[in-house]
Amino acid sequence: MIKEFKRILVTAALPYANGYLHLGHLAGAYLPADIYARYQRLKKREVLFLCGSDEHGVAITVSAEKEKITPQAIIDRYHPANKSVFEAFEMSFDNYSRTSLPLHYKTTTEFFTEFHKNGIVLEKKEQQLFCEKDSLFLADRYVEGTCPNCKSTQARGDQCENCGTWINQVDLIDPKCKLCGSTPVIRETLHWYFPLGKYQKRLQEYIKNADERDGWKENVLRYCEGWFKDGLQDRAVTRDLTWGVPVPVKGFEHKVIYVWFDAVLGYISSGREWAAGKGTPDAWKKYWLDPETKYVPFIGKDNIVFHCIVFPAMLMAWNDSGKEQYILPANVPANEFLNFEGQKFSKSRGWGIDVQDFLKFFPADTIRYALAVNLPEKSDSDFYLKDFQARVNNELADIVGNFINRTIAFTEKNFEGKVPSPGTLNLLDAEMISKIKKIPGMVGLSYEQYRFRDGLMETMNLARSANKYFNDSEPWKTKKSNPEQCAATLYVSLQVVRTLAILLAPVIPFTADKIWKLLKMDSVLYQDGWDSAADILLEPGHILDRPEILIQKIEDKRIEEIIKFLEDGSEKTPKPEAAPIKPVITIDDFSKLDLRIAKVLQAEKVPKSEKLLKLRVELGSEQRQILAGIAKKYEPEDLIGKSVVIVANLQPAKLMGQESQGMILAASDANGDMKLIEPNGEMPAGSIVK
Ligand code: 2FM
Ligand code: ZN
Repeated sequence: MIKEFKRILVTAALPYANGYLHLGHLAGAYLPADIYARYQRLKKREVLFLCGSDEHGVAITVSAEKEKITPQAIIDRYHPANKSVFEAFEMSFDNYSRTSLPLHYKTTTEFFTEFHKNGIVLEKKEQQLFCEKDSLFLADRYVEGTCPNCKSTQARGDQCENCGTWINQVDLIDPKCKLCGSTPVIRETLHWYFPLGKYQKRLQEYIKNADERDGWKENVLRYCEGWFKDGLQDRAVTRDLTWGVPVPVKGFEHKVIYVWFDAVLGYISSGREWAAGKGTPDAWKKYWLDPETKYVPFIGKDNIVFHCIVFPAMLMAWNDSGKEQYILPANVPANEFLNFEGQKFSKSRGWGIDVQDFLKFFPADTIRYALAVNLPEKSDSDFYLKDFQARVNNELADIVGNFINRTIAFTEKNFEGKVPSPGTLNLLDAEMISKIKKIPGMVGLSYEQYRFRDGLMETMNLARSANKYFNDSEPWKTKKSNPEQCAATLYVSLQVVRTLAILLAPVIPFTADKIWKLLKMDSVLYQDGWDSAADILLEPGHILDRPEILIQKIEDKRIEEIIKFLEDGSEKTPKPEAAPIKPVITIDDFSKLDLRIAKVLQAEKVPKSEKLLKLRVELGSEQRQILAGIAKKYEPEDLIGKSVVIVANLQPAKLMGQESQGMILAASDANGDMKLIEPNGEMPAGSIVK
């Protein structure tokens, strides 16, 4: 029996903002999290679903160094890109945050300061690998070598991806600096340690109890047991890096907090940001602090130790301080990995497909469906394009699409598009109705237990039986021989269509909405809710919409096109080259600029120029005429009343025979897109920008 909670907090692993999302990410954490959150909302439970970008750590600084740009430029590229891909994939996050926000620095600093004040974190001298050529301590991914445990040659300074062990970097065999390839030396440095070992007993107890209550997955339990068997060790939670949240301890300000310490707290910050954005800054508390809330973080298997051991231990340590009492994860339903065409997704080898590229070829729901039936829930699974096509065509289109289409089309043709009145039901009809009654509970139980594949399979089985029912009932014959029976068949079939719309909504939300519209329901699908999928609610006489094709089949040609696209690397999502940073200037150089807020009073096109607009702007004490090369992007009428930033002390110049008394600031990217810089909030004209 599953315990009823008042509300549900769902998080999905914060993806690193140093690369585009691929199908493996979706199958590992995001799709199951979204199915779960949508299902819980349909059950009319209060749900908060949080995510955001993980913007610290060496994954990001190494990318920045490779491209010779700043880490900030890296995260500013990938955070918005991933956020919009999630939107296109219909992820129903209540908030998508980022760990570079001041609010998140505050959360992280609060936790670290509390741990420092209470003597939880311990200062220790440690031996670290130092690259003399780069003058750098080689934190985490800055060093690679052979794993002392499994002998894989690509182990990093913190962890071996192959066998999962945490590595004390000085134990790496034949270590090499990732930046210059030279062999580092050993030097001493001071760091703060979190004493995980002290929490081992409580962690074991916590996992045992949580497992008893909510049934943890075998793969997750096995993984944790492995860690406990080896005995948990103290873990350094600071790094000799400049990118990250500075260590809030005197004398350590030039070091940063370890990325995993801040990343897991990113979930809390995302909740705080959500609450502040709604104008109810305390609203996050009922999710994070109330034992009546069930917290479920969704992750891939490489994140298990951080969510089952590190994060709970940090929350325990905080709770011990007697301040707010955070709830711990009720379950951590980690998935294994998804392979692509038989091989591991790999960014460095360019193997796999970015979600944004996939979405150019196929609608989100087809991908959601094909991933959901094949989630790596118990072991790694494989994504093959041919399978994907077969799943969409033979299952989604032929089973679900076909049943719904034939039902609606038959009703339109023979019953004027209205739900017919059933008369007496026969045995087949009664059997079908009893399936409708049972199915939401069955699928719901699978979802409550994080068995998303099973839940979807049961849903598809309902659609399969519905097709069989339709065939066996032969309404095309009974419409002449037994019209009352024919009406009953269609009446029952239409009820199944409604049930399917609700049951499919967590997996293929866009299609579910389309079905709902076809049924011309007056209600909102989510208001009717999950349990109503068991009810017979379509009334005789209710008018339906015209039938339309719900799911387009995928032609061979389309699969060939995407294969060609994958083979021709140049066509893949272009990674815009950011312009190199210019040479350093002094603060005095900068202070020569006089930047001001100005309000646009008038704007018009400049005759014979495609690029230029002539603007009259108000600067507080005076008005100016400025010519700006923004005509391709902005219409004059869009600009009137806008606040912009101008360089107020630029030497006037003549453009197309007209004087320009200043320059308007705009941001532009490598693809040639541009946007005016506008102050965030009202500032009076003439305000100084510095
Ligand atoms: O593996 C990753 O992509 C990590 N950025 C996940 C972080 S999850 C949480 F801790 F934020
Ligand atoms: Zn080096």
